[in-house]
Amino acid sequence: MTDQLNETAAEPAEAATEQTEGTARRRASFHPLEVSGVRRLTNDSIEVTFAVPAALADEYDYIPGQYVALRAQFPDESGTPREVRRSYSICAAPRRFEDGSSEIKVAIKRDLGGVFSTWANESLEAGATLDVMSPAGAFISKHRMTGLNDPSSIDTEREHTFVAVAAGSGITPIMAIARTVLAADEHVRFDLVYANKAAMDVMFVEELADLKDRYPSRFALHHVLSREQRISPLLSGRVDSEKLTTLLNTVIHADDVDEWFLCGPFELVQLVRDTLSARGVDPEKVRFELFTTGTPTNLEGNIGRPVVEDPSGANVEIEFTLDGLTGAVTSPVSANETILNAALRVRPDVPFACAGGVCGTCRAKLVSGTVDMAENYALEPDEVERGYVLTCQSRPTSECVSVDFDA
Ligand code: FES
Repeated sequence: MTDQLNETAAEPAEAATEQTEGTARRRASFHPLEVSGVRRLTNDSIEVTFAVPAALADEYDYIPGQYVALRAQFPDESGTPREVRRSYSICAAPRRFEDGSSEIKVAIKRDLGGVFSTWANESLEAGATLDVMSPAGAFISKHRMTGLNDPSSIDTEREHTFVAVAAGSGITPIMAIARTVLAADEHVRFDLVYANKAAMDVMFVEELADLKDRYPSRFALHHVLSREQRISPLLSGRVDSEKLTTLLNTVIHADDVDEWFLCGPFELVQLVRDTLSARGVDPEKVRFELFTTGTPTNLEGNIGRPVVEDPSGANVEIEFTLDGLTGAVTSPVSANETILNAALRVRPDVPFACAGGVCGTCRAKLVSGTVDMAENYALEPDEVERGYVLTCQSRPTSECVSVDFDA
């Protein structure tokens, strides 16, 4: 999730996500991993490499485009240690070393006021250990990769054109996807529009230049800088509707695109989605990932909090199944809390990361009852049809609700 889903969340070695057709969704868990390297990308961003021992390498296999959640403790205003989770997209193509070990690389951009990202940018060093959730997320190519880290699953039969539009740290998952699909076979073409405020904000400058050198006829890179004048007016200024339309009509091979990858703030992603929709692009071909939406919720504070029932009886009964165990919690209607909020009071290992409807980590199947899901940037329409909900966004609208995190 990019310092996407940015500023998100985490816990010790236990559970989180799901599984779907062997790829995007599988059960995720936290393990302490050693930081083997920290590399500065820009004044405000670093690349962090985690060493994955051979015994855990299968668990940390990932599909380019996925993310990991990191977890650490920070003191709150009163000095009490509080768990903080943040999700960051993986920026490198998957690799396995001869001894069976592997590694995970993420990019962490400093968020204004972000406790985790500021600490990481100022203090994180090689040798430190952090709790890292095994990879999750569905921001992946649907056509080209069907198996985890399995090059043989890549369809090399026909040409594919990918177009990505990224802003800021939204480049992170795009780096992993572009590196992987371009290296996979010579029939791939990849166009990238990368928006930043200024040249000094551009992450992965050298790596992007390297991709251009390596694949001069197949990788096209269009830097757009909002606060600096480039030679081409088209590549200067904010990406608005007019600029985007011109880009799509001129420098992008927009009419024969197999998959679109959009990653950045809500406004940009929505603009591109709307524009593509107006051009008749099949939404099935458009994948997107957002930076964190809204204000991060202090869900960690819910863990272990006593249940306060409404004595008048205006309560909702929430039942949930996780790791084969069924739990229940009573939630006062007046609290208007989400299923995730309530469940965390009695099971601290209930999976979540972004708490903003973006990452999909908190996904569960609604078994009975009804809910109102406020936001959904993570579930595919077919998942919603099959009854899946984001528990961080879902509030019960019936007296009893039952969800299954294992389904
Ligand atoms: S925790 Fe990320 S969508 Fe719910």
